[in-house]
Amino acid sequence: MATNRTLTMIKPDAVKAGHIGAILNQITEAGFRIVSMKMTQLTKNGAERFYEVHRERPFYGELVEFMSSGPIVAAILEKDNAVADFRKLIGATNPAEAAEGTIRARFAKSLGENAVHGSDSDENAEIEGNFHFAGVEQF
Ligand code: RTP
Ligand code: MG
Repeated sequence: MATNRTLTMIKPDAVKAGHIGAILNQITEAGFRIVSMKMTQLTKNGAERFYEVHRERPFYGELVEFMSSGPIVAAILEKDNAVADFRKLIGATNPAEAAEGTIRARFAKSLGENAVHGSDSDENAEIEGNFHFAGVEQF
């Protein structure tokens, strides 16, 4: 069901630091099923479109530069209450405020380089999933 899906990206900082395996392990241990997954790199234009909602924010330029700076791992995840439960699993946007044991507390470097993305609503989860994956790539 689309309402039980979320979209994650393991961001360039965490890929570079070698945390792909540990992060995927924490995600699947928490009960998420991998519906789609790939290693890819956002173009600058792709990152601009993905984070379009933040276009007017002061951090938009930095966010786009960072998200297109290196490879990422994108995945659609499925679980009951996927969007809210995944945001609980990753912790607060600023890793300094993220609860102990969360993915950002364990792996994020800073507010800007915070290891993972998680969709913020069912509606955006669907848009973001379709941004990265064609229908035949969603299992
Ligand atoms: P994400 O979309 O990446 O999962 O992060 P989020 O929902 O927790 O946070 P959001 O508000 O959507 O912001 C997107 C990303 O922009 C960077 N950011 N920088 N004040 C700042 O400098 C600032 N605020 C946000 C973060 O890297 C955040 O993940
Ligand atoms: Mg967000």
